[in-house]
Amino acid sequence: MINRRAWKPSSSSSLDSLLAPSSSCGSSSVSSLSLAGRFKSSQHLFQIIVSLAIGGSLLFIILCQQPKGYVVSTTDPKGHTNNSNKKAAICAIQKGGLRYLDEWVQYHLLALGFEDIFLYDNSEDFELQAWHQSLANFSPSKLQQRTHIRHFPGPKRQNEAYTSCVKQIQKTRSHAWVAFIDIDEFVVLRDTQRYPYISDFLESLPPEYGGLAMNWVAFFLNHQMHYQDLPVTMRFQNRSEHATSQHIKTIARTHLVRKVKNPHFVDYLLFRWWMHTYDTDGNIVAGPFNPELVVDQIAVYHYQSKSLEEYKERCSRGRADVSKEEWSSQLACKSDERLLKDLGKFPELIKDDVPWQLLKERVPGYASKYTNSTI
Ligand SMILES: *[C@@H]1O[C@H](CO)[C@@H](O)[C@H](O)[C@H]1NC(C)=O
Ligand SMILES: *[C@@H]1O[C@H](CO)[C@@H](O)[C@H](O)[C@H]1NC(C)=O
Repeated sequence: MINRRAWKPSSSSSLDSLLAPSSSCGSSSVSSLSLAGRFKSSQHLFQIIVSLAIGGSLLFIILCQQPKGYVVSTTDPKGHTNNSNKKAAICAIQKGGLRYLDEWVQYHLLALGFEDIFLYDNSEDFELQAWHQSLANFSPSKLQQRTHIRHFPGPKRQNEAYTSCVKQIQKTRSHAWVAFIDIDEFVVLRDTQRYPYISDFLESLPPEYGGLAMNWVAFFLNHQMHYQDLPVTMRFQNRSEHATSQHIKTIARTHLVRKVKNPHFVDYLLFRWWMHTYDTDGNIVAGPFNPELVVDQIAVYHYQSKSLEEYKERCSRGRADVSKEEWSSQLACKSDERLLKDLGKFPELIKDDVPWQLLKERVPGYASKYTNSTI
């Protein structure tokens, strides 16, 4: 049974409790209706107060339901402050990418300073399980503890995985920032003297940045026909002069994200309609493209085809995100001749191996195994 009680004027409330700035989310505004008792003569005033009360309550509800920024912070015995206010995570989904994961994970966790990676596994047989076990070998860097895997099979589940991932991070308030990238994409910071790690850079962004748009820099074949068991950033060191693409990827403030409906951008909370994704030049980027091509402070290096052999594997393999790669999985089924023509359209003569240099400098334990190899 629903307990319906008529609102009765009570004697113990005041308009002040409605108008005074209040730090609590409990709404005392309804009780201001009692004022009507004191102004029985004025029907008009009563209406104004009712409107005020309703408007005030709505405002309280809207403001109180806003998730706050993440300010949880702890200090460990050595005096390190673990401030989730600063931390950044990656949400990603993969299928059939086992041989690329070590490099990608070490780069983003150890060279760039992302705190954790949430990796959704779209394979049928949860292929990441055994790989995740193998990360225990890197115990000092806690790679295993900082990589979280989840089995997530089924077609076209990328956006769902991203949304589920960001909701989970929101629940634990563990990371202030979240990046949505693929395992063939490497985030590149241009000025690592000024901003050594990703969190240093993100912290420098203005508060009105709900998220940051990063343009793609695309790498193609580099004349390579076959897969080699070497780091991708080492194998593909050249790009063309037209490599910067309008496509963007996004790093967003976790608590503002409502939903991810597209792998390239996020939707912000309805009550934060003034929040936008910006590039580092201050342009608002709404949607998957930024025609301004801003890559002078941060970029996403996208190893789009890798070798011809690897590119052709897309033809048989379903992709986690069909919409984005539809064109390419169709193209991947074309003849070698056609592929070489399309993917090799622009000569790749500009050496640009920033991620590989950073791996060598910051993760020598991984990179030095390969420095004497030839491509
Ligand atoms: C802070 O972070 C470091 C490294 O991530 C970790 O070793 C330490 O236990 C953390 N301390 C606290 C108090 O959470
Ligand atoms: C990469 O570019 C350099 C010039 O910067 C060129 O000498 C080299 O042949 C190129 N390598 C490939 C694989 O295209």
